[in-house]
Amino acid sequence: MKKIVIKRSVSLRGEVLVPGDKSISHRALIFSALSEGEAKIENFLFSQDCLSTLNCLKSLGVDIEIIGKVIKVRGEGIKGFKEPEDVLDAGNSGTTIRLLTGLLSGIQNMFSVITGDNSLRRRPMRRVIDPLVDMGAIIWGRNDSNNPPLAIKGNQLKGFKHILKVASAQVKSALLIAGLLAEGETWVTEPALSRDHTERIFEYLGLPLERDGLTLKTHKIEGYKAKDFYIPGDISSAAFLIGAGLISEGSSIVIKHVGLNQTRVGMLEVLRKSGAKIEILKEWEAGKEPIGDIKVEFSEIEPIEVMGDIVPRLIDEVPILAIIATQAKGKSVFKDVEELKVKESDRIKAIVNGINKMGGKAEEIDGGFVVYGPSKLIGSEIDTFNDHRIAMAFAIAGLVAEGETIVESESISISFPNFVEVVSQLGGNIIELSA
Ligand code: S3P
Repeated sequence: MKKIVIKRSVSLRGEVLVPGDKSISHRALIFSALSEGEAKIENFLFSQDCLSTLNCLKSLGVDIEIIGKVIKVRGEGIKGFKEPEDVLDAGNSGTTIRLLTGLLSGIQNMFSVITGDNSLRRRPMRRVIDPLVDMGAIIWGRNDSNNPPLAIKGNQLKGFKHILKVASAQVKSALLIAGLLAEGETWVTEPALSRDHTERIFEYLGLPLERDGLTLKTHKIEGYKAKDFYIPGDISSAAFLIGAGLISEGSSIVIKHVGLNQTRVGMLEVLRKSGAKIEILKEWEAGKEPIGDIKVEFSEIEPIEVMGDIVPRLIDEVPILAIIATQAKGKSVFKDVEELKVKESDRIKAIVNGINKMGGKAEEIDGGFVVYGPSKLIGSEIDTFNDHRIAMAFAIAGLVAEGETIVESESISISFPNFVEVVSQLGGNIIELSA
């Protein structure tokens, strides 16, 4: 197993780029595959998760070519998909399996089976299967259809008025994709606003979509034309560098070309309230997504408070926010974050265990956890549960800890393959150990 060793580092400096956004990369592939014509995708995230989507689409007969750093997808509309000869592998990726389940449910006369790694096979799928079944989908899965492998028999779907119990962009997106193939109108109401990249792509591609508060409405289409995509840098990857800049003394860094979609910047809002020096230097737009350069400086942080409707807007950033909280002056509270238990690992357990192992103080509470700061962290070997965001969060903790911090690093290729390189570029003391 690959590991990295991190040592205390001060005065991180420099201007860096982070790789393309994971959520938008998955969607650019899927919506290009469904379109008619050639789409060029630039700044695509070449990480394990997005390659899982790419390989599943190839197994479904979609013509995809990788030319250097650019991807070309030649879509032939819904009729372009062929029955896969073998089981589709979504790897570690919840977005791949949930969005493709929405698509595959609506392709008539097609039988497919989709599965993933041992983390994905434990994650809940009823949240997407139940509403799809309400539209006429035919899906089987393990544990009463809650776990992959999922077997899907494509069917003519019918529109439905969905009221979701969880704010999930993956579920919302699966239903909107299914809605494009379903007879009549499909309505989706979420309990709180989750990331809205799918909605922005609908607008960009001219697909039918109406919004009224938290309710979306779409309907069946005959087809649409392909359009090129430029993928902004991933704010969820930038988050680790923001964390590093804030807690490592004397730091001042700039992260360039980062996606600043309102539904993804909850972390910036929460941190600013706690006194973090974070500035947006420049802002522009590509494909309906706002992009900007982020400047971060070492800051004295007040306790962090996360709860309520902001949670879906920062859900993937909770591990790094928890590490920042170890350096804040007082008790930081993370409530309404129970969704973290069904991510790539039980992130509440992983965060609390890791912080305590490093000599910090964290404890689980009902629906979340609390962190007491500031703590002098001590380098340790951390159990990442093979979860990329846990591995990166604790690597950043290692930058302010005494001694050596060791984390498994294989999982990092899920979302931020050049993480070690970028952190070293800023002056972080981080090295890869060979197996
Ligand atoms: C994602 C949505 C979020 C997020 C995940 C990616 C997406 O999950 O945690 O990393 O691309 O739609 P939920 O759909 O469970 O909110």
